[in-house]
Amino acid sequence: MVKKAKSPVTYAKMKRIVSYFTALIKDKKLGSSHPIYRQMNFLRPENSVPDDDRAAAVCFSNPTEEPQCQVSAADFDYLKVIGTGSFGKVFLATHKEDGRYYAVKVLQKHIILARKEERHVMCEHRVLLKMLNYPFLVKLHFSFQTMDRLYLVLDYACGGELFYHLQREWAFGEPRARFYAAEIASALGYLHSLNIVYRDLKPENVLLDYAGHVVLTDFGLCKEGMTGRGTTRTFCGTPEYLAPEVLQQCEYDRTVDWWGLGAVLHEMFYGLPPFYSADRLEMLRNIISQPLALKPGVSSSARDLLKRLLNKDRAKRLGAKRDLTELQSHPFFSSIQWDELVAKKIPPPFVPSLTGPGDLTNIDSRFTELPVPLSLGACEEYGATFPGFTYINDNILSLSAQSQTCGH
Ligand code: ADE
Repeated sequence: MVKKAKSPVTYAKMKRIVSYFTALIKDKKLGSSHPIYRQMNFLRPENSVPDDDRAAAVCFSNPTEEPQCQVSAADFDYLKVIGTGSFGKVFLATHKEDGRYYAVKVLQKHIILARKEERHVMCEHRVLLKMLNYPFLVKLHFSFQTMDRLYLVLDYACGGELFYHLQREWAFGEPRARFYAAEIASALGYLHSLNIVYRDLKPENVLLDYAGHVVLTDFGLCKEGMTGRGTTRTFCGTPEYLAPEVLQQCEYDRTVDWWGLGAVLHEMFYGLPPFYSADRLEMLRNIISQPLALKPGVSSSARDLLKRLLNKDRAKRLGAKRDLTELQSHPFFSSIQWDELVAKKIPPPFVPSLTGPGDLTNIDSRFTELPVPLSLGACEEYGATFPGFTYINDNILSLSAQSQTCGH
């Protein structure tokens, strides 16, 4: 028996979210066919979930809330664990009807509710809904819930974690690091243009697709609604990659992501994050107060970029004034044609070796060796503790009818 949350996502909270999107729509003058309208339909109070919205998630594909089709946990075969997180696991799954491969992130409601993390989860969901089709950001195909779990059906990035490849090779050469850094920067700049700060950039959250392009995943720690000069104080994320202002719980803004990019770039060059110490506490102290010491072995433009991204003073950090544009004009990126990059016309420097769309060679065996619970596909009674979670991305459906994500 799953206990109901004492304080579920309330109507008042939902109303605030709806007002936010209303403002966004007004601001951006989005047409009524924009997918964001669909999202608003799901942000309805818990007691207005229709009676027949049970057992399986009802999917809506137009703004009149007419049920169009149903997708449920039982529609997928769950094959392997491909990732783990604090609220649950990510599984490689196939859709029973068409055999397509997906990464299904399954979150346990009781863990989320016990930790009062509904906001992060709903945030991840909303952020995934917002970025329907940007290269380098993972795509959400469906989401639904059962009595005790939330399911996010995402593209399967079969190239595995950037971290997995980095660990095996220790460090990357500059051209390879530049390519990944440029694709990551492009994705972060896009999120910032939507007033979203990613906040949790680390090599584990950077995946590769079948061709070797970057796929940014895990939006549970994003902060929405942060405009150009907006700041916040909430503390989250992995300490190794956190900016000093976040560690010190000072106000921070979107420049935390440029620090994160600096930290990931440092790890790509040197095999370790900046300010590294085996003693964690010392490392945190280093991040806050030690000057950046860069070992030789990288070009002067790469060193200069690291120094500017890892500036402890966020107001002086590269990207503080003109965001992505400032990075794009740094000499380290002078060989990057940014339009070509976003069009995925720059050939990736490394193509993962794969035998097919469900290939698991690039997924760490510490995940794939974990057992897959049999109960995942069981169709339990629907419990709407997370109203607004149910979703189908028919934009992607029409696209994926043409090509499977893994390109085979
Ligand atoms: N691990 C976490 N999310 C993933 C995804 N979308 N594809 C592959 N591995 C993942």
